[in-house]
Amino acid sequence: MKDLRYYFNKAIKQHFALGAFNFSNMESLQAITNACKTNKSPAIIAVSESALEYMTPQLTIAMASAVKKACPYVFLHLDHGKSYEICKKAVDLGFDSVMIDGSSLSFQENIALTKKVANYAHKKGALVEGELGQLKGVEDNVNVQENHYTEPLKAKEFVEKTGIDSLAVAIGTSHGAYKYQGLQTLRFDILSEIERLLPNFPLVLHGASSVDKNLVDKINKFGGEIKNAQGVPHELLMKAVKQHNVVKINSDTDIRLAMTAEVREVLKTNPKKFDARDYLGNGRLAIEKLLTDKIINVLFSVNKA
Ligand code: G3H
Ligand code: 13P
Ligand code: ZN
Repeated sequence: MKDLRYYFNKAIKQHFALGAFNFSNMESLQAITNACKTNKSPAIIAVSESALEYMTPQLTIAMASAVKKACPYVFLHLDHGKSYEICKKAVDLGFDSVMIDGSSLSFQENIALTKKVANYAHKKGALVEGELGQLKGVEDNVNVQENHYTEPLKAKEFVEKTGIDSLAVAIGTSHGAYKYQGLQTLRFDILSEIERLLPNFPLVLHGASSVDKNLVDKINKFGGEIKNAQGVPHELLMKAVKQHNVVKINSDTDIRLAMTAEVREVLKTNPKKFDARDYLGNGRLAIEKLLTDKIINVLFSVNKA
């Protein structure tokens, strides 16, 4: 069977990237799955610690297993695991891969924690993503005000000492809907230097939502208040995929915006409706449309897997 490592290697060679799409309910998971199935694209279904708690581990696993049966090229991943215990729990639950996010720790503490997780996960056949450098914004309860870019030499040492399978790098993206105030850029010079020191190593971009203006406008039109939101333009993401070794691109905010815009519109324009399927169903379709666009025009714009 083709595992996640197979797709990472293939992505490096052929310059495509797997979307890592966060879900926290049935509708978002169905939308992700439908988009991947229709486009025959491998993808990662990602669950944060708080989403795991929200859905409960039992239902998360039940839903993900059903999806994986129908789409064997979809992989279940723990997003931003903050402790050894939560990563171990996810591995024991059968997750395909876990992220241990020690990025707020000292370099040595991050190495020690990440290595411990990698040792455990690898014994059980799961892959491990580490993070070095910090993204501006909110990372599941951690608020980082400044951008601390990944230092290439440290990245090399980190990968060698921890034995991780992929590395999340900080090159100017950030979590949430407010990523830039001025020029929308990424530090491709840092990315290139990391790649020179770590040839063919799978790299990951967090905080990579594009924050479509149409979705933001729709949310605001129907009563929302999202001001001055800005995401990472498609062209920058395409460059990261086509010219670099970025093989996993995370999106959560875009999925939230698509669902919220639709729910707001349905409720505002149909004040008599009160069946959740009416607005969540439309939200599900909007997410599917958004992800199909991402898959075709960004993640697999060069090659199909
Ligand atoms: O990177 C963080 C994700 O967007 C998860 O956020 O903990 O609110 O589910 P969450
Ligand atoms: P966005 O907030 O840009 O969607 O990033 C999500 C993410 O990195 C999840 O780990
Ligand atoms: Zn993230």
